[in-house]
Amino acid sequence: MTEEFYRIQRLPPYVFEEVNRLKAQLRGQGRDVIDFGMGNPDMPTPQHITDKLIETVRKPKTNRYSASKGINGLRKSIARYYERRFRVKLNPDTQVVATLGSKEGFANLAQAITGPGDVILAPNPAYPIHAYGFIIAGGLIQAINAPDPETYLSGVAHALENVLPKPKAVVINYPSNPTAQMVNLDFYKDAVALARKHDTLILSDLAYSEIYFDEPAVSLLEVPGALDIAVEVNSLSKTYSMAGWRVGMAVGNERMIKALARVKSYLDYGAYTPIQVAAAAALDGPQDCVDDIRAIYKSRRDTLVKSFANAGWDIPVPPASMFAWAPLPAKYADMGSLAFSKMLMEEADVAVAPGVGFGEAGEGFVRIGLVENEQRIRQAARNIKQLLARRSAA
Ligand SMILES: Cc1ncc(COP(=O)(O)O)c(C=O)c1O
Repeated sequence: MTEEFYRIQRLPPYVFEEVNRLKAQLRGQGRDVIDFGMGNPDMPTPQHITDKLIETVRKPKTNRYSASKGINGLRKSIARYYERRFRVKLNPDTQVVATLGSKEGFANLAQAITGPGDVILAPNPAYPIHAYGFIIAGGLIQAINAPDPETYLSGVAHALENVLPKPKAVVINYPSNPTAQMVNLDFYKDAVALARKHDTLILSDLAYSEIYFDEPAVSLLEVPGALDIAVEVNSLSKTYSMAGWRVGMAVGNERMIKALARVKSYLDYGAYTPIQVAAAAALDGPQDCVDDIRAIYKSRRDTLVKSFANAGWDIPVPPASMFAWAPLPAKYADMGSLAFSKMLMEEADVAVAPGVGFGEAGEGFVRIGLVENEQRIRQAARNIKQLLARRSAA
């Protein structure tokens, strides 16, 4: 047989595919699977944003190729957002690129800055693109254990002292997917000081900037000097429930932003102009819709933690993001997250994401997305309660 392509050999099959296949099979049998598996927002996009899209679609010339780094108006709106929300001043021409979602921005930034064999420090567990974006680009990942932010940062410090070749960049993602943990400005100050000391770049992923439940999330770019070494990606996907629209941003260090814009100029023509105009309207318009979306996630979080505890499964309360990161119930701790996820689906009609899909350090956990309504969260808890009771009686 022909040998698999070089890059494809380096991309392991998605663990989640196995769970997705089982889900499709059970649904095909008519089973109503309650799906917490994917971080796919289920709420509608706020009306005024959709209205702006429709209004713009009808205008002449909006059908033409757009600008690969984003139209001026959107880049200015992004700069205003960063100033209003984080007090970070950005030049929309040199420090901002509008992206096709934050994932595309992150992946193409990885592509833009990574040379063959460059070493990148990334957390484990991680959202897959945080490691594989660099692997696709020909880099090498040094995975750093990240059960919590402090352990991650001390692992990064140790690697920066010891790993050769010297790491080119460090990935930071808080609020975290999948662990749902968040950090304060002191954490970012330490991270920036460390990166500056070792002449290393930082890529920060702040896709959950607005999905927090107590203290607002902060930006790494708030740290003085961060703009010298860091780029942050952010997104409208969760903030305005616009995941399918594919619109996000990369902002920060001019050299990296210029490199990203250059790569993108070869690859794409930017998002459809009406989407960019509507995205600008989202960022500049009334923000009470963001409060509403946040409140719904918070209420779901509370229902999840309470009803699952009642079912016999204690889940740490996530302070942010649209996920709970749940250790397997004690009795099932040795079962493995993939087998446990399949059991939940087959025997309780509940789909979750197995932690091992986010890296081997995710083993022993599952990720539960807050993407079903509260009635269905309670139904899932009842199903799980029965499953656990059946199993302990057996
Ligand atoms: C941490 C993180 N970054 C980026 C993304 C991708 O978001 P976008 O829709 O902006 O590409 C996600 C999506 O789940 C995510 O969890």
